Amino acid sequence: MKAVILAGGEGTRLHPLTYTRPKTLIPILDRPMVNYTLDYFREGVDEIIFAAGHMVAELRSYMDSIGEGSRVKIVTEENPLGTGGAVKNVESLLDEPFIVLNADIISSINMQEFISFAEDKGGMGSIALFPSSHPEDYGVVELEEGQRIVRFVEKPTREEAFSNLINAGVYYLKPEILDLMEPNKFVSMEREVFPLIIQDGFFGYRFDGHWVDVGKVDTYLEAVRTLLDIKGSRIDEASQIGDGVEIVDPIYVGPRSVKRSGRLGPLTSVGNGCDLGTSEITGSVLFDEVRLGENVGVTDSVLGEGVVVGDNSTLKGCVIGDGEVIDEGSNLVDQKVGMR
Ligand code: GTP
Repeated sequence: MKAVILAGGEGTRLHPLTYTRPKTLIPILDRPMVNYTLDYFREGVDEIIFAAGHMVAELRSYMDSIGEGSRVKIVTEENPLGTGGAVKNVESLLDEPFIVLNADIISSINMQEFISFAEDKGGMGSIALFPSSHPEDYGVVELEEGQRIVRFVEKPTREEAFSNLINAGVYYLKPEILDLMEPNKFVSMEREVFPLIIQDGFFGYRFDGHWVDVGKVDTYLEAVRTLLDIKGSRIDEASQIGDGVEIVDPIYVGPRSVKRSGRLGPLTSVGNGCDLGTSEITGSVLFDEVRLGENVGVTDSVLGEGVVVGDNSTLKGCVIGDGEVIDEGSNLVDQKVGMR
Protein backbone atom coordinates (compact mmCIF):
# COMPACT_ATOMS: atom_id res chain seq x y z
CA MET A 1 0.00 0.00 0.00
CA LYS A 2 1.12 3.58 -0.66
CA ALA A 3 0.62 6.70 1.42
CA VAL A 4 0.48 10.26 0.12
CA ILE A 5 1.58 12.86 2.66
CA LEU A 6 0.23 16.35 2.05
CA ALA A 7 3.18 18.55 2.89
CA GLY A 8 2.86 21.35 0.35
CA GLY A 9 1.66 24.10 2.66
CA GLU A 10 4.00 26.96 3.42
CA GLY A 11 3.13 27.01 7.10
CA THR A 12 2.63 30.79 7.12
CA ARG A 13 0.94 30.65 10.52
CA LEU A 14 4.13 29.24 11.96
CA HIS A 15 6.28 32.12 10.72
CA PRO A 16 9.04 33.00 11.54
CA LEU A 17 9.88 29.36 12.40
CA THR A 18 8.98 28.14 8.90
CA TYR A 19 11.14 30.69 7.07
CA THR A 20 14.14 28.49 7.73
CA ARG A 21 12.68 24.96 7.65
CA PRO A 22 9.63 23.23 6.18
CA LYS A 23 6.81 22.62 8.67
CA THR A 24 7.63 18.89 8.54
CA LEU A 25 11.02 19.59 10.14
CA ILE A 26 9.78 21.61 13.11
CA PRO A 27 11.11 19.81 16.19
CA ILE A 28 8.71 18.06 18.53
CA LEU A 29 10.64 16.92 21.62
CA ASP A 30 13.64 14.99 20.29
CA ARG A 31 12.65 14.62 16.61
CA PRO A 32 11.37 16.64 13.67
CA MET A 33 7.61 16.34 13.21
CA VAL A 34 7.95 14.22 10.05
CA ASN A 35 9.24 11.33 12.17
CA TYR A 36 5.87 11.11 13.89
CA THR A 37 4.28 10.84 10.42
CA LEU A 38 6.66 8.06 9.45
CA ASP A 39 5.84 6.24 12.71
CA TYR A 40 2.29 5.64 11.44
CA PHE A 41 3.75 3.62 8.58
CA ARG A 42 6.18 1.28 10.32
CA GLU A 43 4.29 -1.60 8.70
CA GLY A 44 1.82 -2.14 5.87
CA VAL A 45 2.99 0.77 3.69
CA ASP A 46 5.84 0.23 1.27
CA GLU A 47 5.97 3.62 -0.44
CA ILE A 48 5.49 7.05 1.07
CA ILE A 49 4.94 9.90 -1.38
CA PHE A 50 5.40 13.42 -0.08
CA ALA A 51 3.45 16.02 -2.06
CA ALA A 52 5.68 18.91 -1.05
CA GLY A 53 6.24 22.44 -2.25
CA HIS A 54 8.13 24.47 0.30
CA MET A 55 11.83 23.89 1.10
CA VAL A 56 11.81 20.51 -0.61
CA ALA A 57 15.61 20.14 -0.66
CA GLU A 58 15.70 20.32 3.15
CA LEU A 59 13.05 17.61 3.45
CA ARG A 60 14.86 15.39 0.93
CA SER A 61 18.21 15.67 2.66
CA TYR A 62 16.60 14.95 6.04
CA MET A 63 14.96 11.80 4.62
CA ASP A 64 18.33 10.65 3.28
CA SER A 65 19.96 11.38 6.65
CA ILE A 66 17.54 9.04 8.47
CA GLY A 67 17.83 6.28 5.88
CA GLU A 68 14.31 6.73 4.45
CA GLY A 69 15.54 7.82 1.00
CA SER A 70 14.49 4.58 -0.71
CA ARG A 71 10.95 4.19 0.74
CA VAL A 72 10.13 7.87 0.36
CA LYS A 73 9.40 9.70 -2.91
CA ILE A 74 9.15 13.49 -2.83
CA VAL A 75 7.10 15.11 -5.57
CA THR A 76 7.46 18.87 -5.85
CA GLU A 77 4.43 21.03 -6.60
CA GLU A 78 5.59 24.22 -8.28
CA ASN A 79 2.38 25.99 -7.21
CA PRO A 80 0.11 24.72 -4.44
CA LEU A 81 -2.66 22.58 -5.95
CA GLY A 82 -4.74 22.22 -2.81
CA THR A 83 -5.31 19.02 -0.87
CA GLY A 84 -7.14 17.32 -3.78
CA GLY A 85 -5.00 18.70 -6.61
CA ALA A 86 -1.88 17.52 -4.79
CA VAL A 87 -3.16 13.93 -4.78
CA LYS A 88 -4.25 14.19 -8.43
CA ASN A 89 -0.72 15.40 -9.21
CA VAL A 90 0.76 12.07 -8.06
CA GLU A 91 -1.91 9.96 -9.80
CA SER A 92 0.65 8.17 -11.99
CA LEU A 93 2.18 6.66 -8.83
CA LEU A 94 -1.15 5.30 -7.52
CA ASP A 95 -2.96 2.22 -8.77
CA GLU A 96 -4.74 0.68 -5.79
CA PRO A 97 -6.42 2.09 -2.65
CA PHE A 98 -4.06 4.45 -0.88
CA ILE A 99 -3.76 6.49 2.31
CA VAL A 100 -3.68 10.30 2.36
CA LEU A 101 -2.43 12.07 5.45
CA ASN A 102 -1.96 15.73 6.37
CA ALA A 103 1.69 16.16 7.30
CA ASP A 104 0.98 18.25 10.36
CA ILE A 105 -1.06 15.90 12.52
CA ILE A 106 0.14 14.48 15.82
CA SER A 107 -2.31 11.81 16.93
CA SER A 108 -2.91 8.48 18.57
CA ILE A 109 -4.60 6.90 15.55
CA ASN A 110 -3.85 3.21 15.05
CA MET A 111 -3.17 3.23 11.31
CA GLN A 112 -3.40 -0.54 10.91
CA GLU A 113 -6.81 -0.56 12.58
CA PHE A 114 -7.95 2.31 10.36
CA ILE A 115 -6.82 0.49 7.21
CA SER A 116 -8.62 -2.71 8.28
CA PHE A 117 -11.79 -0.70 9.00
CA ALA A 118 -11.64 0.94 5.57
CA GLU A 119 -11.01 -2.36 3.77
CA ASP A 120 -14.01 -3.92 5.54
CA LYS A 121 -16.34 -1.02 4.77
CA GLY A 122 -15.49 -0.64 1.07
CA GLY A 123 -17.27 2.12 -0.88
CA MET A 124 -15.16 5.03 -2.14
CA GLY A 125 -13.14 5.17 1.04
CA SER A 126 -12.99 6.09 4.70
CA ILE A 127 -11.86 9.00 6.79
CA ALA A 128 -10.57 9.11 10.36
CA LEU A 129 -12.66 11.18 12.78
CA PHE A 130 -11.80 12.67 16.14
CA PRO A 131 -14.22 14.19 18.69
CA SER A 132 -13.44 17.88 19.17
CA SER A 133 -14.77 20.53 21.55
CA HIS A 134 -14.49 23.16 18.79
CA PRO A 135 -15.63 21.34 15.64
CA GLU A 136 -16.38 24.58 13.77
CA ASP A 137 -12.63 25.04 13.16
CA TYR A 138 -12.49 21.87 11.09
CA GLY A 139 -14.49 19.70 8.69
CA VAL A 140 -17.53 18.36 10.56
CA VAL A 141 -18.94 14.94 9.79
CA GLU A 142 -22.27 13.30 10.51
CA LEU A 143 -22.46 9.52 10.69
CA GLU A 144 -25.42 7.21 10.49
CA GLU A 145 -25.57 3.63 11.64
CA GLY A 146 -22.89 1.47 10.09
CA GLN A 147 -20.52 4.44 10.29
CA ARG A 148 -21.60 5.70 6.90
CA ILE A 149 -21.02 9.43 6.42
CA VAL A 150 -24.20 11.33 5.59
CA ARG A 151 -22.91 14.88 5.78
CA PHE A 152 -19.53 16.57 5.49
CA VAL A 153 -19.24 20.34 5.91
CA GLU A 154 -15.89 22.13 5.95
CA LYS A 155 -15.58 24.81 8.67
CA PRO A 156 -19.28 25.43 9.40
CA THR A 157 -20.34 28.21 11.77
CA ARG A 158 -20.63 27.25 15.44
CA GLU A 159 -24.44 27.09 15.08
CA GLU A 160 -24.20 24.94 11.95
CA ALA A 161 -21.82 22.43 13.52
CA PHE A 162 -24.14 19.42 13.72
CA SER A 163 -21.68 17.00 15.32
CA ASN A 164 -18.48 17.03 17.34
CA LEU A 165 -16.74 14.60 15.00
CA ILE A 166 -14.09 16.30 12.88
CA ASN A 167 -12.01 15.31 9.91
CA ALA A 168 -8.71 14.17 11.41
CA GLY A 169 -6.82 14.54 8.13
CA VAL A 170 -6.33 10.83 7.45
CA TYR A 171 -8.06 9.18 4.47
CA TYR A 172 -8.21 5.80 2.77
CA LEU A 173 -9.30 6.35 -0.81
CA LYS A 174 -10.07 4.28 -3.88
CA PRO A 175 -8.19 5.41 -7.01
CA GLU A 176 -11.55 6.09 -8.75
CA ILE A 177 -11.80 9.24 -6.64
CA LEU A 178 -9.04 10.74 -8.81
CA ASP A 179 -11.44 10.74 -11.81
CA LEU A 180 -13.46 13.42 -10.03
CA MET A 181 -10.60 15.92 -10.29
CA GLU A 182 -9.08 17.75 -13.23
CA PRO A 183 -5.30 17.68 -13.53
CA ASN A 184 -3.21 20.76 -12.79
CA LYS A 185 -6.09 22.52 -11.14
CA PHE A 186 -6.43 23.71 -7.55
CA VAL A 187 -8.87 21.34 -5.86
CA SER A 188 -9.82 21.15 -2.20
CA MET A 189 -10.47 17.55 -1.27
CA GLU A 190 -12.58 18.61 1.71
CA ARG A 191 -14.78 21.15 -0.06
CA GLU A 192 -15.04 19.79 -3.59
CA VAL A 193 -14.51 16.03 -3.50
CA PHE A 194 -15.79 14.61 -0.22
CA PRO A 195 -19.34 15.99 -0.57
CA LEU A 196 -19.51 14.26 -3.99
CA ILE A 197 -18.57 10.78 -2.85
CA ILE A 198 -20.89 10.53 0.14
CA GLN A 199 -23.59 8.95 -2.03
CA ASP A 200 -21.21 6.22 -3.23
CA GLY A 201 -20.26 5.08 0.26
CA PHE A 202 -17.84 7.01 2.42
CA PHE A 203 -17.22 5.83 5.97
CA GLY A 204 -16.03 7.39 9.22
CA TYR A 205 -13.60 5.72 11.61
CA ARG A 206 -13.70 7.34 15.03
CA PHE A 207 -10.74 7.18 17.35
CA ASP A 208 -10.09 8.66 20.78
CA GLY A 209 -6.91 9.55 22.61
CA HIS A 210 -5.18 12.63 21.26
CA TRP A 211 -5.16 14.60 18.01
CA VAL A 212 -3.47 17.93 17.41
CA ASP A 213 -3.21 19.83 14.12
CA VAL A 214 0.16 21.59 14.32
CA GLY A 215 -0.90 24.55 12.18
CA LYS A 216 -0.48 27.50 14.53
CA VAL A 217 1.93 28.43 17.29
CA ASP A 218 -0.58 27.66 20.03
CA THR A 219 -1.43 24.24 18.56
CA TYR A 220 2.29 23.55 18.10
CA LEU A 221 2.78 24.21 21.81
CA GLU A 222 -0.29 22.07 22.51
CA ALA A 223 1.21 19.17 20.53
CA VAL A 224 4.48 19.35 22.47
CA ARG A 225 2.65 19.61 25.79
CA THR A 226 0.35 16.70 24.90
CA LEU A 227 3.33 14.46 24.19
CA LEU A 228 5.13 15.63 27.34
CA ASP A 229 2.05 14.74 29.37
CA ILE A 230 1.85 11.30 27.78
CA LYS A 231 5.54 10.44 27.77
CA GLY A 232 6.57 12.10 31.04
CA SER A 233 9.91 13.77 31.70
CA ARG A 234 13.09 12.81 29.94
CA ILE A 235 16.44 14.45 30.52
CA ASP A 236 19.19 13.23 28.24
CA GLU A 237 22.17 11.72 30.06
CA ALA A 238 24.52 13.92 28.08
CA SER A 239 23.01 17.12 29.49
CA GLN A 240 24.14 18.85 32.68
CA ILE A 241 21.39 20.04 34.98
CA GLY A 242 22.77 21.46 38.24
CA ASP A 243 21.56 20.05 41.58
CA GLY A 244 20.07 23.41 42.46
CA VAL A 245 17.74 23.52 39.44
CA GLU A 246 14.07 23.22 40.39
CA ILE A 247 12.51 20.80 37.90
CA VAL A 248 8.75 20.84 37.48
CA ASP A 249 7.60 17.82 35.44
CA PRO A 250 7.02 17.11 32.65
CA ILE A 251 10.03 18.38 30.72
CA TYR A 252 12.29 17.21 27.93
CA VAL A 253 15.97 18.17 27.74
CA GLY A 254 18.14 17.09 24.81
CA PRO A 255 21.83 16.17 24.87
CA ARG A 256 24.60 18.67 25.70
CA SER A 257 22.26 21.22 27.23
CA VAL A 258 23.41 22.94 30.41
CA LYS A 259 21.55 24.65 33.25
CA ARG A 260 23.21 25.87 36.43
CA SER A 261 20.26 27.02 38.57
CA GLY A 262 16.75 28.46 38.33
CA ARG A 263 13.57 26.62 37.33
CA LEU A 264 12.70 24.37 34.39
CA GLY A 265 9.13 23.35 33.61
CA PRO A 266 6.48 22.34 33.61
CA LEU A 267 5.58 21.52 29.98
CA THR A 268 8.88 22.64 28.56
CA SER A 269 11.06 21.12 25.86
CA VAL A 270 14.71 22.06 25.38
CA GLY A 271 16.70 20.94 22.33
CA ASN A 272 20.36 20.00 21.99
CA GLY A 273 23.34 22.08 23.07
CA CYS A 274 21.41 24.86 24.84
CA ASP A 275 22.92 27.02 27.58
CA LEU A 276 20.08 27.94 29.91
CA GLY A 277 22.09 29.82 32.54
CA THR A 278 20.05 30.73 35.60
CA SER A 279 16.73 31.16 33.80
CA GLU A 280 13.14 30.28 34.71
CA ILE A 281 11.42 28.52 31.77
CA THR A 282 7.76 27.46 31.74
CA GLY A 283 5.43 26.07 29.05
CA SER A 284 7.95 26.77 26.29
CA VAL A 285 9.92 25.12 23.50
CA LEU A 286 13.57 25.94 22.89
CA PHE A 287 15.12 24.59 19.67
CA ASP A 288 18.81 23.60 19.54
CA GLU A 289 21.72 25.82 20.62
CA VAL A 290 19.66 28.50 22.40
CA ARG A 291 21.65 30.71 24.82
CA LEU A 292 19.95 32.44 27.71
CA GLY A 293 21.76 35.06 29.81
CA GLU A 294 21.52 35.54 33.59
CA ASN A 295 18.12 36.01 35.19
CA VAL A 296 16.04 35.37 32.06
CA GLY A 297 12.35 34.37 32.21
CA VAL A 298 10.70 32.48 29.31
CA THR A 299 6.98 31.63 29.48
CA ASP A 300 4.67 30.10 26.83
CA SER A 301 7.17 30.93 24.07
CA VAL A 302 9.00 29.25 21.21
CA LEU A 303 12.68 30.12 20.67
CA GLY A 304 14.19 29.06 17.34
CA GLU A 305 17.61 27.56 16.75
CA GLY A 306 20.57 29.58 17.97
CA VAL A 307 18.48 32.32 19.63
CA VAL A 308 20.41 34.40 22.15
CA VAL A 309 18.59 36.21 24.98
CA GLY A 310 20.47 38.89 26.95
CA ASP A 311 20.58 39.11 30.75
CA ASN A 312 17.55 40.27 32.76
CA SER A 313 15.05 39.75 29.91
CA THR A 314 11.56 38.26 29.99
CA LEU A 315 9.64 36.71 27.11
CA LYS A 316 5.97 35.75 27.41
CA GLY A 317 3.87 34.33 24.55
CA CYS A 318 6.66 35.11 22.06
CA VAL A 319 7.96 33.36 18.94
CA ILE A 320 11.58 34.12 18.11
CA GLY A 321 13.02 33.09 14.73
CA ASP A 322 16.28 31.19 14.28
CA GLY A 323 19.44 33.12 15.13
CA GLU A 324 17.72 36.21 16.53
CA VAL A 325 19.36 38.12 19.37
CA ILE A 326 17.21 39.65 22.11
CA ASP A 327 18.95 42.55 23.84
CA GLU A 328 19.52 42.46 27.58
CA GLY A 329 16.80 43.98 29.69
CA SER A 330 14.07 43.28 27.08
CA ASN A 331 10.52 42.64 28.23
CA LEU A 332 8.53 41.14 25.34
CA VAL A 333 4.91 40.00 25.47
CA ASP A 334 3.06 38.27 22.57
CA GLN A 335 5.67 39.27 20.01
CA LYS A 336 7.03 37.55 16.93
CA VAL A 337 10.66 38.44 16.28
CA GLY A 338 12.28 37.67 12.94
CA MET A 339 9.27 38.27 10.66
CA ARG A 340 10.12 39.24 7.07
P1 GTP B 1 -0.73 27.89 6.58
O1 GTP B 1 0.12 28.50 5.50
O2 GTP B 1 -0.27 28.31 7.94
O3 GTP B 1 -2.20 28.03 6.36
O4 GTP B 1 -0.42 26.31 6.61
P2 GTP B 1 -0.64 25.22 5.45
O5 GTP B 1 -0.44 25.85 4.12
O6 GTP B 1 0.26 24.09 5.81
O7 GTP B 1 -2.18 24.85 5.51
P3 GTP B 1 -3.01 23.80 6.32
O8 GTP B 1 -2.46 23.77 7.73
O9 GTP B 1 -4.43 24.07 6.16
O10 GTP B 1 -2.67 22.45 5.57
C1 GTP B 1 -3.04 21.17 6.07
C2 GTP B 1 -2.10 20.14 5.45
O11 GTP B 1 -2.27 20.07 4.04
C3 GTP B 1 -0.65 20.47 5.69
O12 GTP B 1 0.02 19.25 5.92
C4 GTP B 1 -0.22 21.12 4.41
O13 GTP B 1 1.16 20.91 4.14
C5 GTP B 1 -1.07 20.39 3.38
N1 GTP B 1 -1.43 21.25 2.26
C6 GTP B 1 -2.23 22.35 2.29
N2 GTP B 1 -2.34 22.88 1.05
C7 GTP B 1 -1.60 22.08 0.23
C8 GTP B 1 -1.31 22.11 -1.18
O14 GTP B 1 -1.75 22.97 -1.92
N3 GTP B 1 -0.51 21.11 -1.66
C9 GTP B 1 0.00 20.13 -0.87
N4 GTP B 1 0.80 19.21 -1.43
N5 GTP B 1 -0.24 20.08 0.46
C10 GTP B 1 -1.02 21.05 1.00
